Amino acid sequence: MGWPQWIRGSAEVEPSLYAADFRRLGAQVDELLAAGCRVFHFDTGDGHFVPPVTIGPVVLRSIAEGIHAAGGVVDCHLMVTDPVHHFDEFARSGADSVTFHVEATDDPAGVAAAARELGLRVGVSFNPGTSPDSAAAAAERAAADLVLVMSIWPGYSGQPFMPEALDRVARLAELVSCPIQVDGGVAEENAKALREAGATLLVAGSAIFSDPEPADAYRRLVALAA
Ligand code: DX5
Ligand code: ZN
Repeated sequence: MGWPQWIRGSAEVEPSLYAADFRRLGAQVDELLAAGCRVFHFDTGDGHFVPPVTIGPVVLRSIAEGIHAAGGVVDCHLMVTDPVHHFDEFARSGADSVTFHVEATDDPAGVAAAARELGLRVGVSFNPGTSPDSAAAAAERAAADLVLVMSIWPGYSGQPFMPEALDRVARLAELVSCPIQVDGGVAEENAKALREAGATLLVAGSAIFSDPEPADAYRRLVALAA
């Protein structure tokens, strides 16, 4: 899947499947595909870099084929201590990109190269305690395809948005030319402000899946982010 297809217009809303109803995961993916969604966010936590073990390649394999068949991609956010260890299995399980955390490595160029060798696109993420300037430096070394600004401490869906993320997005926008993604507490109340600050990839978990009709919530966010 080519990278240009990720960004079809000025912005993308990416449902974070971590917040889905796993009893109905396939149906929820299909409903979002029918609503026009083509970029899905997939969160893996290892119980070490972040406290919880979340979802991994077994679940990824169960949905990737259907998403690819519809022309979509799966954008994998690896909240893990040793990202390179996981790349091969993610590539074989249908990942289109892997985003690793700058806090997990002092060799972003080497980590990115390991992902690219497997045909994966590369994102660089940073936590609320890391400066946008150091994240931008790491992203440059990695020649990142996206930079992910965490607007919560990673680990769990459903946490409140940290408003200081707006300034962090704006600062990052001065420093990088690749797309800026934001993840954590993204909702109808802040989507427009995030776009204005310079984010183009808005990840939303509970704002979509806590709605009785996730596809409707997705469409509302898309309208706000346009
Ligand atoms: C948590 C994950 C997020 C999470 C977002 O660390 O990285 O992608 O699912 O969920 P919300 O949108 O509910 O904050
Ligand atoms: Zn995430």
